[in-house]
Amino acid sequence: MKKYSEVNEVIRWYPSEFKRLDSKDMWKKDKINLYAHIPFCKGKCQFCPFNSMPINRQNLDEYFNTLRKEISMYAEEEYFKSKTIESIWIGGGTPSAVPIEYIKSLLDLIFEKFDIDDKCEITLETNLHDLNEEYIKEVAKTQVNRLSIGVQSFKDKYLKMMGRTYKYENIKTFFSFIRKYDLNISIDLMYRYPGQTLDEIDEEIEFIKESKDYLDHITLYSLILFPKLGTFKQVKSGKLPLQPSFNTYMEMNKRFADRLPEAGFHQYTTNHFAKDGKENVYNNDRWGFPQKECVSFGPGAFGQIKDYVYCNEHAIQDYYDKVNNNIKPVQSGKKMNLMEQASRYLVLGTKCLKVDLNLFEKMTGINPLEFYKEKIDWLLNEKMITINDNILELTKKGIALIIDVQNCFQTKNNLSYTQPQYDILDMFDGQRETYDLEVIEKDEE
Ligand SMILES: C[S@@+](CC[C@H](N)C(=O)[O-])C[C@H]1O[C@@H](n2cnc3c(N)ncnc32)[C@H](O)[C@@H]1O
Ligand code: SF4
Repeated sequence: MKKYSEVNEVIRWYPSEFKRLDSKDMWKKDKINLYAHIPFCKGKCQFCPFNSMPINRQNLDEYFNTLRKEISMYAEEEYFKSKTIESIWIGGGTPSAVPIEYIKSLLDLIFEKFDIDDKCEITLETNLHDLNEEYIKEVAKTQVNRLSIGVQSFKDKYLKMMGRTYKYENIKTFFSFIRKYDLNISIDLMYRYPGQTLDEIDEEIEFIKESKDYLDHITLYSLILFPKLGTFKQVKSGKLPLQPSFNTYMEMNKRFADRLPEAGFHQYTTNHFAKDGKENVYNNDRWGFPQKECVSFGPGAFGQIKDYVYCNEHAIQDYYDKVNNNIKPVQSGKKMNLMEQASRYLVLGTKCLKVDLNLFEKMTGINPLEFYKEKIDWLLNEKMITINDNILELTKKGIALIIDVQNCFQTKNNLSYTQPQYDILDMFDGQRETYDLEVIEKDEE
């Protein structure tokens, strides 16, 4: 019996499956994303876990100089010479709480230091409170081409409950002038407010339908009550009613999913809806498969560079101390191994509803139908996914139960971890809600 290979040649080039290759492909710049955090707001909302603080006590020059220094430190890295930025997100906090000159000079610096794609999507996160026509005129003169506006609700009752300073009338005034400017308009809406009813969700949907000409994109956030924050305490003490039950929440999701398309907004992630061609590039790049890199600046910012996921120092003084000592202000993170990278493709990719399994195999060398066979069979049996032409796609049930879908693809180790921002803020009490499937099962009938 033949025991050894009889070839008189050692393997020197590998993989040996060579195909025609255009040298241009080898030098194509990778497209990546950029996030800059502005940790200031006019006041601090009682429900909000984001890293932000009241603006009046801050030295804006000190902050922006430090942010500029951090950006310049990264831009000096040879690594970024082979990258093109295809989306920029100036987020917060509330960037619109800061005089626009700061944002303008920040963007000028980014344009000077990085290679920016001609079609780069540049989003500015704002609070409707700040958006008068004078301000929008100034925004339109900068490189910003997209506004993400924290509207939160169209109903004065909930705007008041959440401590917002504007009313429905102000939202309508904003709509009356915004289409004069060449800006994509996205709004954030929260729901599952304490005491909110299904009829009130129908009303929110009606408001969206009436406003559809002024909107390109909608992001839905179900309100999370963080135990250490004021709104949670108000609910606990009975000052505010309880949040709708899990089943009602599921029904709310279903109403948005069923009815927003009637207004021209299709669902492209578990909580994002867009008119055709107005999907958020930043969002798709960071969460859709295959996720692209994002270099992130500012205190508490989360990013992904090379094989690393990371977050910056959260406390502003720790952030200042590192940058002023010429140290990149990373606080924690993880170098992903191949399995975590593969897992990430699917865990985050399913949030954006579709994953191309051929591409997944090409990128990882892992055949997902074999490697995740047991999990995929379960998801198919449960009718949470379909697979056609090797495209894995979530069903309505899969979208409703996204966490169960994502859990199928987590590595064993990562399953036992909560989300890092919860650890950092020490706001998560470790309790996960249990729920029954009444609404979802009903949906599938
Ligand atoms: C970083 S905030 C920026 C928006 C802007 N500062 C504002 O308040 O209008 C992004 C979005 O997160 C959402 N959000 C804030 N706190 C939340 C919570 N506790 N649960 C769910 N979503 C929340 C809100 O919809 C908010 O618009
Ligand atoms: S919800 Fe917006 S305005 Fe309120 S604290 Fe959070 S980031 Fe600031």
